[in-house]
Amino acid sequence: MTMPTFDPTSDSQLADPYPTYTQMRDRCPVFHDENLDVFVVTRHEDVVRVAHDPETYSSESAVKATAGPEADEVKQILAEGWSLTPNLTESDGEEHTRLRVAVNRVFTPRRVAELEPFIRATGEELIGRFAAAGSTDIIENYAWPLPLSVMARILGVPAGDVPLLRQWSHSWLKLSVGGGDVAERAACARDVIAMQNHVMGMLLDPGRAGDGLIASLAADHGENGLDNVELMRIVMNLIIAGHVTVTRSIGNGLVSLLENPAQLAALREGEVTPAAMVEEILRFESPVQGLFRTVTAETELAGRRLRPGDRVMVHFGAANRDERVLADPDTFDIRPRAGRNMLAFGRGIHTCLGAGLARLQLQIAIPLLFDRLPGLRLGPANARSRERLVIARGFDELHLQWDVSQVKEATL
Ligand code: HEM
Repeated sequence: MTMPTFDPTSDSQLADPYPTYTQMRDRCPVFHDENLDVFVVTRHEDVVRVAHDPETYSSESAVKATAGPEADEVKQILAEGWSLTPNLTESDGEEHTRLRVAVNRVFTPRRVAELEPFIRATGEELIGRFAAAGSTDIIENYAWPLPLSVMARILGVPAGDVPLLRQWSHSWLKLSVGGGDVAERAACARDVIAMQNHVMGMLLDPGRAGDGLIASLAADHGENGLDNVELMRIVMNLIIAGHVTVTRSIGNGLVSLLENPAQLAALREGEVTPAAMVEEILRFESPVQGLFRTVTAETELAGRRLRPGDRVMVHFGAANRDERVLADPDTFDIRPRAGRNMLAFGRGIHTCLGAGLARLQLQIAIPLLFDRLPGLRLGPANARSRERLVIARGFDELHLQWDVSQVKEATL
């Protein structure tokens, strides 16, 4: 029996990784990948098991795709700032609880719900900028500025900082996931230091950060027992985790709907709610495909022995296509269905803190495009490109077209 090759950044698996994941689930559900030196966990049941056992599976280095050492030049630049971890995503036990409790105190469901008019108004404003053009790169002009503006608003960061936050976040991600030559990584490290200093500046002078979460975290200081460096890491975690994921979901969702006209019609005709649509979009093409854990004690998973120090990838994207829990998992079907039980927001103590905010944004942002841009359709296939990342799935370019004459009737 030949073993599948796990290579999510190859051209063929970028186009469609799912047949490989089916083989991995069937033949070797805890699959050792030689290149990354990581055990990839692909069955739903096993992903849930790992996510619910943070004692055996530590989140230290949860975002780091490569296990190799960092170049000295990059280390020297990073030494000018503060250590990047522990943050919410990459911490365990009591440390994680302290951080999570502190952010839960201020990141409340009420605060999220209050953002609804802002999300809609920002979506309308962005669409207004390109509606008359008849085509646009929806990632560049909608899918990233929308969630990042929302993050800036909730944190209290001035809207003018949004482009900088984008550049810095991308640099942080590149540095974390690994890859690139030393010069590129050094440039990313400088951006990360600039981001740390910027966020620290706002924490030290909360007046600059308006009345958002940054000011609340700074004011809560004595109560939550965190120091400024810990608060700075929380804010950076929120900025980064809070936008790239929504960006990817918007792009993935649009392509899934446009490639499945019957599903789009069901949404447009009100047969299915935007909330149900969002669950299927996240299941079908999970934006966070997988993250890492480090084994702390000898254990066994799906018949495979794991030793302390082994790295494991919890593959939410593959688990979300597991036919053991959901019939017909490779069909995109936005109607509510039994067994969906999707894992795109993770499980256990690290379950996505922003799931409510993400759902709200997607429920507004995707239908709004179809309402405002009649005849919305995919541009040519060569006007679309996917991000080459092991941990994530999304587009970095996605051109869409629509009928300009009807836009005028609909919106002017
Ligand atoms: C569709 C969009 C999103 C997806 C698919 C997503 C996915 C995830 C996943 C899978 C995790 C778990 C990580 C793990 O197990 O190690 C996570 C954690 C997290 N997410 Fe999200 N996320 C999204 C949106 C957001 C938003 C909008 C925010 C902003 C508030 C956010 C903030 C966080 C934070 C702070 C964590 C770390 C939580 C912890 O470790 O305690 N996410 N997210």
